[in-house]
Amino acid sequence: MAKRDQTSFACQACGAVYTRWQGKCDACGAWNTIAEEAAAVAQAVPAAQRAGRKGRAVALESLEGAGKPAPRLVCGIGELDRVAGGGFVPGSVLLIGGDPGIGKSTLLVQASAALARRGLKVVYVSGEEAVDQVRLRAQRLGLAQSPVGLAAETNAENIIATLAAGPPVHLAVIDSIQTMWSDSVESAPGTVTQVRTSAQLLVRYAKQTGACVILVGHVTKDGQIAGPRVVEHMVDAVFSFEGDGGHQFRILRAQKNRFGPTDEIGVFEMTGAGLSEVPNPSELFLSNRDAGAPGTAVFAGMEGTRPVLVEIQALVAPSSLGTPRRAVVGWDPARLSMVLAVLDARCGVRLGGHDVYLNVAGGFRIAEPAADLAVAAALVSALTGAPLPADAVYFGEASLTGAVRPVAQGPARLKEAAKLGFAQAVAPTGGAEGVDGIAVTPVGSLAALVAQIAARA
Ligand code: TYD
Ligand code: MG
Repeated sequence: MAKRDQTSFACQACGAVYTRWQGKCDACGAWNTIAEEAAAVAQAVPAAQRAGRKGRAVALESLEGAGKPAPRLVCGIGELDRVAGGGFVPGSVLLIGGDPGIGKSTLLVQASAALARRGLKVVYVSGEEAVDQVRLRAQRLGLAQSPVGLAAETNAENIIATLAAGPPVHLAVIDSIQTMWSDSVESAPGTVTQVRTSAQLLVRYAKQTGACVILVGHVTKDGQIAGPRVVEHMVDAVFSFEGDGGHQFRILRAQKNRFGPTDEIGVFEMTGAGLSEVPNPSELFLSNRDAGAPGTAVFAGMEGTRPVLVEIQALVAPSSLGTPRRAVVGWDPARLSMVLAVLDARCGVRLGGHDVYLNVAGGFRIAEPAADLAVAAALVSALTGAPLPADAVYFGEASLTGAVRPVAQGPARLKEAAKLGFAQAVAPTGGAEGVDGIAVTPVGSLAALVAQIAARA
């Protein structure tokens, strides 16, 4: 163990370092997260030794044709491979975060088994479960016969020594980074210093050997990856695995990816036999639809390259409060306020005295502004009591002037809607015509949309 010659205080949530203890972290605002930690010991290197450690710069152009990079590791679980950008990159480090119990270990056991069956060397290191428990899980998943190496170990140096023995490792899964500790620091496992140091060692291992390393990280209540927040910038990609307690489906989202897109999502369903892929999420999200009820509109959205249709539900009720309630699940509350303000100022739709509830069905979360038109349609339908056509989808972005702007990938949205049996689409003028089987009603402004819905009432 290193000599303890200096201590510091680090916020366990964001990693900010202080010289004294204090109750609140100035950097992230969290309370009671600052704990004493031994500082990592830096040793001065004598100049004579330093000379031997000189680095070497390589010309970029000489890398051209200097041998092909190793191919990506494709596990065959399509939803995972797509989010990764076409498979895992050798030598890269990936952090997968998510709430406890969401299915991270299950997903990674399945991915490990799939890669091992393709003849790659995969080692699954569990710091949370004993080897037998991992084996039980694999049995439950029907993967007990896969040639995956299992290890129960929490010391980063030992893990690297284990991985370095024998033939080169293609993929190493570390479950989880919060349980890892290194000999070189004195703090307890799970503290920021330990998490950071262990991650550094594993990142160096990945870069030196060309193995792909996947780190599992737990997320705190506010959605940040605890401790691993300080790891986020060290790794090549950060994925989050999300889900809703009441629903069976799980969504894998890339938050950062040096080797792939960040707008792709992977959709899975948790079944009794592990996670199964959901190649067509729209069907899942629309399966329990209340077609024909006022206040619901189907939004034709895009998640990366894939169209996703979801139902948007709105409820408006006269408010008994001085400041009416605005409750949103699955969408940006600021965006809802904007749509409400535009409806009020440009279309005369007054919701100032009403409570407004907005829900994206199925627990899905929409990030696109293209949902503005569908939200406005659901709100107006809820207010007037006029149901929207059951076979119509909506998409388009509202501007503050009340105009409806075109959005990207109109044809892809229309094709998906046509495939799922929708016969009409309400879309911005221009840019979204010409798809077989679906009639487009162009709207240039929210006022035109309101008039259209009022005509049905
Ligand atoms: P797990 O992968 O252990 O979650 P994490 O590693 O993110 O903490 O998943 C645990 C949950 O998944 C648990 O509540 C049981 C459920 N589960 C299934 O429904 N089916 C299965 O086949 C498996 C293995 C787990
Ligand atoms: Mg786990």
